[in-house]
Amino acid sequence: MNVLVTGGAGFIGSNLIHFLLSQKPEWNLINVDSLTYAGNLENLSSCDDNPRYSFELADITDTVRIHEVFDKHHPDFILHLAAESHVDRSVLDPLVFVRTNVLGTQVLLDEMRKTVPGSRFLHVSTDEVYGSLGAEGYFTEETPIAPNSPYSSSKAGSDMLVRAAFITHGLDTVITRCSNNYGPYQFPEKLIPLMLNNAWAGKPLPVYGDGRNVRDWIYVDDHCSALLAVLENGRSGEVYNIGGNNEWANIDIVKLILRQAEASEDLIQFVTDRPGHDHRYAIDATKIEKGLGWQPRHSFEEALPLTIKWYGDNIEWTRRIVSGAYRDYYEQQYGQRLG
Ligand code: NAD
Ligand code: DAU
Repeated sequence: MNVLVTGGAGFIGSNLIHFLLSQKPEWNLINVDSLTYAGNLENLSSCDDNPRYSFELADITDTVRIHEVFDKHHPDFILHLAAESHVDRSVLDPLVFVRTNVLGTQVLLDEMRKTVPGSRFLHVSTDEVYGSLGAEGYFTEETPIAPNSPYSSSKAGSDMLVRAAFITHGLDTVITRCSNNYGPYQFPEKLIPLMLNNAWAGKPLPVYGDGRNVRDWIYVDDHCSALLAVLENGRSGEVYNIGGNNEWANIDIVKLILRQAEASEDLIQFVTDRPGHDHRYAIDATKIEKGLGWQPRHSFEEALPLTIKWYGDNIEWTRRIVSGAYRDYYEQQYGQRLG
């Protein structure tokens, strides 16, 4: 089986490649990534000598390059994770989100139809396409799409294109919508690694608004096992929600991190709120739990300390991102300069 993963050098993509290499010994994994600021090939350095892993530097909006990659590898499965993923950046620069998340998804669907029409396309979307909840209720797969940020709107657009490919062209597609992930290799602009690194450095921890916004956190390995379940057994054309059943207000997470990092709550700094900040996300994952027998295996109590330990043990990983040194890895490994 040839399994193509787009965005494999990012946070979830690199965790997914490690996960699939260990769980699926007969699969070849092809990582297709353009190495934006969020792509870090050092996340996969331990796979470099694995004959079942290969890397293709390619932008998913580049039709010529994407054709070359599909023609070379003829994937049986396509796991599509490549995206611009950070909400704050989408507020400042929406166009790059539309380009990668919307246009890039259509380029992949067109190429699949042309080269490997019998393959399966798993589109990794997000719970943010459903918009924002009040204090009560949960997102189900029937909740109407109502995105609020340029990021979530571009993801919603890509979901609609995947749906159209299923209905119009009969392609075998499935869509997943997961809540907030945490774990190793998360780019330090996101809440948990950002707060942890600031706590260790004695820097202020910027909490947006009153800190009462709620997110449902899931350990990245549980997201990966859910993606495998949907890829192998999900029904064509369907959407599956994925969640950790683990809601936290941001301020409570920040205080927990400060305690575990043995730093003072005086570092908390309430700052201007994110424009259009969604109040609460909460996932009803009954469909994947009952239909595919999937359950998250890691509790927050167990996996958050593991995550904090990972960042502590790998402080050099963060330092190389902050200094920009992680960008040199591609040239060292593949002998070509990044554009
Ligand atoms: P990330 O930002 O860490 O990684 C994104 C990867 O995509 C990077 O390696 C980047 O280089 C690559 N990429 C970006 N633009 C590209 C392009 N034009 N061509 C090729 N590669 C490109 O993101 P993440 O947090 O790992 O999220 C992965 C996917 O999961 C995204 O689609 C995101 O919407 C979705 N998602 C994320 C979360 C979360 O909590 N992080 C939750 C639900 C869904
Ligand atoms: O729900 C899934 C989504 O989770 C994914 O689709 C996105 O790709 C991923 O980035 C994440 O989006 P969020 O906006 O929820 O994640 P972020 O880590 O940016 O922020 C989490 C919460 O913390 C959010 O309510 C904003 C708040 N926050 C964030 C940062 C970076 C702060 O209060 N201060 C901060 O400095």
